[in-house]
Amino acid sequence: MCGIFAYTGKSGKDAGKVLLQGLVSLEYRGYDSAGIFTPESGSIKTPGAVAELKKKVPKKFNGKSGIAHLRWATHGEPTKVNAHPHSDCQGEIWIVHNGIIENFKELKDKLTKAGHTFVSESDTEVFAHLVEEKLKKAKSAKGGFEKAAVAALKEIRGTYGMAIQYKGEPEKLIAARMGSPIVLGVGKHERFIASDASPILPHTKKVIFLEDGEVAVITPDTHTVYKLEGSRVSRKPEEIEWTAQQAQKGGYEHFMLKEIMEGAEVIENTLRGRLIPEKGLAKLGGLEGVAKQLAKIDRIIIVACGTAYYAGLVGEYMLEEHAGIPVEVELGSEFRYRKPVINEKTVVLAISQSGETLDTLEAVREGKRRGALTLGIVNTVGSTIARETDAGVYNHAGPEIGVASTKAFVSQLVALTLLTVFLGRQRGMQPSEGKKIARELKALPAKAQKIFKGKGAIEKLARKYSEARDFLFIGRKYNYPVAFEGALKLKEISYIHAEGCGAGEMKHGPLAMIDEKFPTMALAPSDSVYEKVFSAIQQIKARKGPVVAIATEGNKEIGKVADDVLYVPETLEMLMPILSVIPLQLFAYYFARNKGYNVDRPRNLAKSVTVE
Ligand code: F6R
Repeated sequence: MCGIFAYTGKSGKDAGKVLLQGLVSLEYRGYDSAGIFTPESGSIKTPGAVAELKKKVPKKFNGKSGIAHLRWATHGEPTKVNAHPHSDCQGEIWIVHNGIIENFKELKDKLTKAGHTFVSESDTEVFAHLVEEKLKKAKSAKGGFEKAAVAALKEIRGTYGMAIQYKGEPEKLIAARMGSPIVLGVGKHERFIASDASPILPHTKKVIFLEDGEVAVITPDTHTVYKLEGSRVSRKPEEIEWTAQQAQKGGYEHFMLKEIMEGAEVIENTLRGRLIPEKGLAKLGGLEGVAKQLAKIDRIIIVACGTAYYAGLVGEYMLEEHAGIPVEVELGSEFRYRKPVINEKTVVLAISQSGETLDTLEAVREGKRRGALTLGIVNTVGSTIARETDAGVYNHAGPEIGVASTKAFVSQLVALTLLTVFLGRQRGMQPSEGKKIARELKALPAKAQKIFKGKGAIEKLARKYSEARDFLFIGRKYNYPVAFEGALKLKEISYIHAEGCGAGEMKHGPLAMIDEKFPTMALAPSDSVYEKVFSAIQQIKARKGPVVAIATEGNKEIGKVADDVLYVPETLEMLMPILSVIPLQLFAYYFARNKGYNVDRPRNLAKSVTVE
């Protein structure tokens, strides 16, 4: 996720100021680098957030139009040179982009051969050169810039929300959308393009939401929307009553809810360009350099903290069952003080959303000192863990603002599945199995959407159990770690006692706590351990404990025993945690929200734990 903002006007406002002010409200979308361009004053880019950019922009930086960007890195480190806006060879065409151009490598090769010079590692820069190339051919014809931009858009694959500016026609801006949001703002003698309405709202409440495959051309007094293939779209501006803050949250009350609801998109983003379904293979560019070494490793130690640790536990089950590699999962805080036995055939794999968690980082360093190959599954490009590991896989989940990790967990599980296929296929996983996993991975976003549709029922359930002071979460095999994650979500934002437990462990102690006031959330999908979990539910019911079951659609039996059932669509056993965690995240969210707590910033916690 990145944030883009563009302005053109003749209302007397200074584009430089409008753009900088707008970036502040987009900051939740990315904060590892920022940049601004106006045809009058040129471009300024910097690593870091808007505050850094503001320091660098001189007072006399101004203009009547311009484009600006906040980056959440995907391709290339968050450096000044990789920051947007990107331009062509002549500095005539300028682009800000949110998304990923998947075929950028082949386009870059073609354009390099045609004489273009690239200065960054960014996929976006390719697009500026592509428009330049098209413009060379179209310049004489009327509407050359527009034609060139459209021709270039037709050649790229991937996702984009973009704004394009050409110095030759400085009043005109072009916007395009495919998979990443674009909102047009329609003011008096001024027009805007943005990733969401928040930077537009101080200027106008009239907006047009672009749809995928649409292009818009704006000038201070006009806006035209059409489909990429050419037909005109007539869409009247709508008035929105959101505040800028509501707009940042996409209309949701909290970032946490927004981020849970992004789950389907996050699955797609983590998968994008990384599966070859027809061959049953995973293509992980970040691991290519160490692929030969990985073929020889005989053990993986996953190190992580909190939610990322629970993702690691699911990874252990996947990697051992489907890739045949022995795996251990350790809390970073424990690993770093032990004397682990490690050799050059050991991989230490760190999982971290922020890439800055000190205990996980120190565990990586300890692994390195002992000669292990270190890998990362990290969401934040250029973070310390991403830089210090030998190789890795980025999540591409976008910034997570809510302190309670939700979409990052989903994305970590998807990345671990890809790693399982990658390593499994090196070790005799059959193509048919790889294909089956790939097929099911691709089907997950639609299945996640189905769960989101039922969120009303989960909200109701959270109200029903609102008086509970304790909550037990049970699960087995792949859903054993999910039980712990469900409990962590509930306790960290609602401050009640919640604990995870293996369903098979109940009779070894926890069953003693159960009475009519102690509810249990039981993860009971129809998998290889369903019967066992079902029997644990019966034991709880025999002690009068209320039970909410998470079950696979179509299971009618469970409703006769459990007090309440939340259904999830069927999928492979190994992939079920990606779906089964969603109702638990939503339950925790509604439970805490009903208590009136600040779910995005729970007390005593920080988003990134960079201290011991
Ligand atoms: C829980 C949560 C934390 C983090 C943990 C690791 O909701 O957010 O438990 O998962 O602090 O953080 P990262 O993934 O940034 O290393």
